[in-house]
Amino acid sequence: MPQMRVNISPMKIGEGQLHEIYLNSSAWIICPPELIPSPGQYLLAHAHGSDSPLAVPVFFSDSAPNGFRSAPLTDSAWNPGARLHLRGPLGHGFSVPEFARKVALIAFDESPARLRGLISIALKQAAEVVLVSNFAVEDIPETVEVQPLQAMLDIYQWADYAAFDVARENLNQLKEMLGKIGQAKSAREAQVLVRAPMPCGALAECGICALTIRHEWKMICKDGPVFAMGELK
Ligand code: FES
Repeated sequence: MPQMRVNISPMKIGEGQLHEIYLNSSAWIICPPELIPSPGQYLLAHAHGSDSPLAVPVFFSDSAPNGFRSAPLTDSAWNPGARLHLRGPLGHGFSVPEFARKVALIAFDESPARLRGLISIALKQAAEVVLVSNFAVEDIPETVEVQPLQAMLDIYQWADYAAFDVARENLNQLKEMLGKIGQAKSAREAQVLVRAPMPCGALAECGICALTIRHEWKMICKDGPVFAMGELK
């Protein structure tokens, strides 16, 4: 199976502002267009005047005027109006193949917010989209079907492209579940966003985001966070 990777866009540094926080803890971030991450990529953000020494990874979820809407910011105590120092876009993002007409977006263990940006890309190429998640989803286009996680294996076999979002500690569980269906019945192409703490974004090579694949260390912050499914087997 060919392995699709999105080229890493040149990393930039700039200033942004947290404009609004929504009920699900996602945020409207105002920033220059060149800093907006593509789906699956992230920015590292640090609030001016913050006591925390660690930057917060901020993932793209949806478009918003003069910036973007982020996935929920569970690790930050920022308030609207906070001025943010931003570094990015960082890492490899998702890439919906042109042939995809049946797209499965599978949020294995958290909100589907990091996959949400793929909906408009898939719909633009006239694909059917099924979102698989046990978490609440808001403002999803009516054409997108939503299914619970119990339907994951069926939807994975139906899809010709699947995008997953999974925490590093649940990756083996996901692989075990997918292993129950044969390769021939799997989606033709699949990519996996692996979530882990990423405090340095490869700048200090802290290793906190390490992932062992076939006895080899990978850094989720720079080798991912999106991996081709074939790389993870
Ligand atoms: S976050 Fe430090 S090496 Fe990946």
